[in-house]
Amino acid sequence: MSTGIDSALFRETLGHYPTGVAVVTAIAQDGRPTGMVVGTFSSVSLDPPMVAFFPATNSRSFRQLRTAGAFCVNVLASDQEPLCRRIATGGADKFDGVRWRPGPLGSPIIEDSVCWIECTFQDIREAGDHFVVLGLVHELAVERSTLPLLFFQGGYGRFSPGSFIATPDPDLIQAAQLAETIRSQIEDLSTELAVNCGVLAEIRGDAVQVLAANRGSVAEPFPLGHRQPIIPPLGAVFLVNSTAAQVEEWLRRAPDDSRDRRDLYRAGLDKVRACGYSLLAAEPRLLQRQQAALSAFEESDRLPRHERAVQQATSELAELFCPDLLPGELYDLASIVAPIPTDADLPPMAIRITGMPAAVPAEQIESWVHSLKRVAAAAGAAMTGTRG
Ligand SMILES: Cc1cc2nc3c(=O)[nH]c(=O)nc-3n(C[C@H](O)[C@H](O)[C@H](O)COP(=O)(O)O)c2cc1C
Repeated sequence: MSTGIDSALFRETLGHYPTGVAVVTAIAQDGRPTGMVVGTFSSVSLDPPMVAFFPATNSRSFRQLRTAGAFCVNVLASDQEPLCRRIATGGADKFDGVRWRPGPLGSPIIEDSVCWIECTFQDIREAGDHFVVLGLVHELAVERSTLPLLFFQGGYGRFSPGSFIATPDPDLIQAAQLAETIRSQIEDLSTELAVNCGVLAEIRGDAVQVLAANRGSVAEPFPLGHRQPIIPPLGAVFLVNSTAAQVEEWLRRAPDDSRDRRDLYRAGLDKVRACGYSLLAAEPRLLQRQQAALSAFEESDRLPRHERAVQQATSELAELFCPDLLPGELYDLASIVAPIPTDADLPPMAIRITGMPAAVPAEQIESWVHSLKRVAAAAGAAMTGTRG
């Protein structure tokens, strides 16, 4: 029985329907916790209370799950994407480090999930290459009433209300207010060096331009409010004092997590940590491609498939990131960025200069870096002092 529908078209079309993300857990016959990530969880009936999910017939995880007498559906929260990736990747140790407690029927309840629903198997029936699993609900509770993790077009995200009142973004407002306190230093630096100068803040995974002083001779490509998703190699300046887990999170944003690429991004970060600034060489073809991908992403309301194009184009900037400066050589630079040293409870911030003339000697760049670092240090002191 086939209607001749192309499988790629089926996936592409159905990928436009968003789902939540749940982890179905159980204690398998061997006594060990097991689980699988599903996007196909749904409520089915109120009386009797039944829910369903659809595991692939070839799923090894489901083969283990069905050996249990009961299972628990854990609805994941928007901050549980790392946990989701870990369990979806599989492997015998996928439950290592996952905090859970046994539910009333013994199935693992994952800590900090949004809610859980514990069931017994009511029916398992085959439907093409998947099973339809009906669960009879025995116990359920809201664990943490917070935003759920959503899955759409192959990417993760979270719900934002369709209210006509714009959602306030406290981090962005705080960063803009802090940047305002150093406006005169930024304007002076822009005038002194005859370059464009801006303040960037890391806001929920984006580098956002929160202040701009444009006295450079070259037009400024980054308007106030410009957002660049922090994808390796970019964003290293925000990670100079970060933990290994934060670096790991940054590396995960790259489209290619091969050993070589990860080593390359880590080497870039080590360089930034050692010298206290980052450089990006100007290579018009790669930079234009990255800007075009970024524009398409913003114009599409940040759709996941456009996000993947941004990931790809941004990762290709790695070859332009932090070139070695050799005395007497000439360089075309797109930007120089230095972190602003502030307290850990403030949004990470940095100062970026752009709009430099072409073909500048290494000695000139070193002099710009010196001025940039001086202003960044003073800005950090002013911001920390501002909070009294
Ligand atoms: C967001 C998301 C939703 C998923 N939904 C389902 C699903 O509904 N059914 C399914 O069989 N697998 C689903 N998967 C894949 C499984 O979680 C898992 O990767 C797969 O079962 C691994 O194969 P294994 O069970 O053979 O180890 C989903 C994965 C992700 C990341």
